[in-house]
Amino acid sequence: MQIITTASQPFSDQRPGTSGLRKSVSTFQQEHYLENFVQSLFDVLDGYVGKTLVLGGDGRFFNLTAIQIIIRMAVAAGFGRILVGRDGLLSTPAVSHLIRKNEAFGGIILSASHNPGGPEGDFGIKFNTANGGPAQEVLTEAIFQHSTQVAHYHYADIPEVPLDQLDQYNFGHTVIEVIDPVADYAELMQTLFDFNAIKSLIDNGFQVYFDAMHAITGPYAQHILGELLGVANSNLLNCEPKPDFGGSHPDPNLTYAHELAERMFSDTAPDFGAASDGDGDRNMILGHQCFVNPSDSLAIIAANAALIPAYKNGLTGVARSMPTSAAVDVVAEKLGIDCYETPTGWKFFGNLLDANKITLCGEESFGTGSNHVREKDGLWAVLCWLNILAVRKQSVSDILRQHWQQFGKHVYTRHDYEGVESTSAKKLVEHLLNNLLNLTGQEFNGYTVKCADEFSYTDPIDHSMSEHQGIRLLFENGARIIFRLSGTGTSGATLRVYIEDFCDDTNRHNENTQSYLKTLIQIADDIAGIQTHTGMVSPTVIT
Ligand code: G1P
Ligand code: ZN
Repeated sequence: MQIITTASQPFSDQRPGTSGLRKSVSTFQQEHYLENFVQSLFDVLDGYVGKTLVLGGDGRFFNLTAIQIIIRMAVAAGFGRILVGRDGLLSTPAVSHLIRKNEAFGGIILSASHNPGGPEGDFGIKFNTANGGPAQEVLTEAIFQHSTQVAHYHYADIPEVPLDQLDQYNFGHTVIEVIDPVADYAELMQTLFDFNAIKSLIDNGFQVYFDAMHAITGPYAQHILGELLGVANSNLLNCEPKPDFGGSHPDPNLTYAHELAERMFSDTAPDFGAASDGDGDRNMILGHQCFVNPSDSLAIIAANAALIPAYKNGLTGVARSMPTSAAVDVVAEKLGIDCYETPTGWKFFGNLLDANKITLCGEESFGTGSNHVREKDGLWAVLCWLNILAVRKQSVSDILRQHWQQFGKHVYTRHDYEGVESTSAKKLVEHLLNNLLNLTGQEFNGYTVKCADEFSYTDPIDHSMSEHQGIRLLFENGARIIFRLSGTGTSGATLRVYIEDFCDDTNRHNENTQSYLKTLIQIADDIAGIQTHTGMVSPTVIT
């Protein structure tokens, strides 16, 4: 086997964002682009010779091309074993589990998560370390720095590896195993949840719908929800992974998972509906004519965790990303456990999970997870809900209503302004930062600013500092408005505005969220000048 070295020119745009390096497919298709990034990764890492690498992706366009490139480069780099999902498929949480189970050196996940796919869509690459979690910022920054200088890459001159059947191939000192993408993950789920209870709930007529959005969770849902738990095949929607996700955004929200949303809000709606995203780490939970806000979902799972076998002995603590509503904080207080507030992005939960400071964590962006892996996990969240429902034997909306009655309701919305011109977005942020000091103590339509700052975070375990993690306006009555720019987009800028108010008046718990938050939404615009800066009169997506 020959190792070939190819000269290349560095690219200046390979800095990973909130979740890996994410670019348009055409960017990745540039000659040497992927190779340079992978070489930078291997050059920066140390100690992988002879070790295991897990490799797979969400099946989007360019997945298979990228996998063959990475296999050739990983063989040249000297990995001892490469575990690759059949057909190049592995969900993000499955990769996390496989890394941990096989004590692998790490894993490479090919995905741009919920971004659209296809030749005109996006592609992405993420590296996860030996704990199964996304690489920390020190590492991603080192990869980026190296990528600005990398001038050549190495690959093994080997034939294309057939990925369509479970098999094993040897090249030099590397063995490549094509593995079943679902089996290990399904086995893990069965150790966490009461499958018998869930199955009997379903056998007794509880109707479950799941929308895989033509993305990675299709085969996982067919096996776990279908074969193991008895959900009818006709209730498992869009389960065939497609390179362009059937032409839509594989993002589980009410806008993009509209087929499921329409069904769940119809007169004949089933009892439970859920969807997951491109790479299987996000989840949306719906009940009969009812939507569970992801921040509430985290709080409800935390409050009911003792009903789930894996968490029956209690939680060590919980964590949420800063923009996620404080619903889980109230539950943590009641349970007498710690609650951590981290910056946006799953990588910030890794140290807390590793140190056993937390058992559960989540983000408002449809991400929930636990210490069973080091990624958020879409199907796991679905199983959490089904397990809770199987024990409580109540409807989703009853569980929601009772939760708000007991803990109060954190009325919450996120407004996204997509496709904002980058310089205008920067100006908006500068304008806000320049005015922060003046805001404290000011009153806006009955809301007094208690504190206005830029969120920065010191990791309690390794003491690393992450600054500029979003602008916070904290009001005296507990309401919050947060502004931050997305770190996952591939063109222009996306402004995210997170708005939250606390309501303990049960008579108002059914009120429409947007009208309940109307005053705060107006305050956000008055303070940030959103319309003036973006030229947009309303958000492009409201969650
Ligand atoms: C978004 C979400 C964030 C999540 C990330 C990856 O990042 O807001 O919570 O961790 O996707 O799924 P953003 O685009 O806001 O940087
Ligand atoms: Zn995702």
